[in-house]
Amino acid sequence: MYFTLEYLWLYLILVAFGLFVYLALRRPKLVRRPPLPPGSLGWPIIGEMLELQRLSRLGKKDEFVDERRKRYNRDVFKTAILGEKTIAFCGAAGNKFIFTSEKSLVMTWWPTSLKKLFGDAFFTAPYDEAIRTRKIVAAFLHQEVMDQLVQRFDNSCKKRMEWDWIGKYAFHIACDMFASMNDRNWQAMMIKEFHVLIKGVFQLPMYFPGTRHFKAVKAAKVIRKGLIKVIERKREMKSSQQKVEKDLISHLMDTKDDHGNNLLNDNEIADNVIFLMEAGHDTSSSAMMMLMKYLAEMPDCYQRVLLVLRLSPPVMGTFRKAKVDFTYNGFFIPKDWMVLCTPNSTQNDPKYFPNPEKFDPERFDRDTITPHSFVPFGGGPRMCMGKEFARVEILVFLHNLVLNFRWKLLYPDEVISIDPMPTSPNGLPVYLYPRSN
Ligand code: HEM
Repeated sequence: MYFTLEYLWLYLILVAFGLFVYLALRRPKLVRRPPLPPGSLGWPIIGEMLELQRLSRLGKKDEFVDERRKRYNRDVFKTAILGEKTIAFCGAAGNKFIFTSEKSLVMTWWPTSLKKLFGDAFFTAPYDEAIRTRKIVAAFLHQEVMDQLVQRFDNSCKKRMEWDWIGKYAFHIACDMFASMNDRNWQAMMIKEFHVLIKGVFQLPMYFPGTRHFKAVKAAKVIRKGLIKVIERKREMKSSQQKVEKDLISHLMDTKDDHGNNLLNDNEIADNVIFLMEAGHDTSSSAMMMLMKYLAEMPDCYQRVLLVLRLSPPVMGTFRKAKVDFTYNGFFIPKDWMVLCTPNSTQNDPKYFPNPEKFDPERFDRDTITPHSFVPFGGGPRMCMGKEFARVEILVFLHNLVLNFRWKLLYPDEVISIDPMPTSPNGLPVYLYPRSN
């Protein structure tokens, strides 16, 4: 075949056409993306945080989520809180989706403010590392271990009642079980710092003097220093063959890797213990405070701790991050947006709990509870690991309380604000009546 200039134009057209077809086939198909869920991202940086804080202060714990669910008529909406673009998932289906999609579509995530406070604690580590440390801590918090420690919980409770009645019982338990620190002055110094720490947990991470976050970071440093001293003292005692009390710190110090080396260094141990003390004492004391409040109103149903966790869950929301782009209920959920799980969207919804405001002690025995509708401890592979600890702690408290006292609220109409857990602005003052028998 001859290549003549006469047909050059024809060759050029054929080559150009071939190239066009090749490129057209290679180009990713333009698929129309579903819309983002309805909602508002509020103001730049602040997002809808001011509104959330306002309602929380007024104790309107469900309103932020409820109002948006009604307004958009959907169980999923977008917002922006804690400096993050957020998708809030509601209802039992939303909870189930979040708890069963860990690692594949979402991953447990905590606000930047928390990472700065708890440094090397496992809960902010990448998934596999977090699960590995979780297992080590879980061995200490296991149900059987907790049942064996009931006597120690009881001793702490009685001691605390002698010292200053019951106020700081949950903190006392945490100091005893995690660090064997039963010294009254040490606890008094630490609890002051923990109060500052908790107030800076769910805040915009604004790190300059005067902000709650700034104060909390300083408090975390003081606590870390105090715990490192405890670790060092335990090490000295061990090396001089003295008996070391069994507690979370000694459990973590004794855990070795496959080569017989310490698995966690002192900083990692201290940060994990700070996190567990925080996760463990404010949640339980909030639950116990609400328990006393409900029991003062309805004294005949003291055994129903679950009811309190349904009506006033100490943790109002848990966080994940979208690992990849995905679609949920026809809406686009972009990678890296925060995913918010909202326990109040089921626990106080008449669809799951008829007459949700009613403190009905028989409900859990009588009714069938929809799966994933009662989630005060979260769910999935990152579910709360202090559930059994909290169970024993609260039951021991309740036992000592009702055995020894009757009580009446000093301010029956006091507003319980959310900061960041259900909190009595006055510390829930009560009139106490010792039981004569
Ligand atoms: C009434 C008391 C308590 C409530 C309502 C509660 C609730 C929760 C919730 C909702 C989560 C998040 C779960 C998720 O993201 O799915 C959580 C996580 C956690 N809780 Fe609790 N908690 C309580 C007591 C405790 C106690 C006493 C401890 C320790 C002794 C503890 C240790 C933890 C830890 C370590 C995590 C993080 C787990 C992880 O990231 O893998 N909690 N808790």
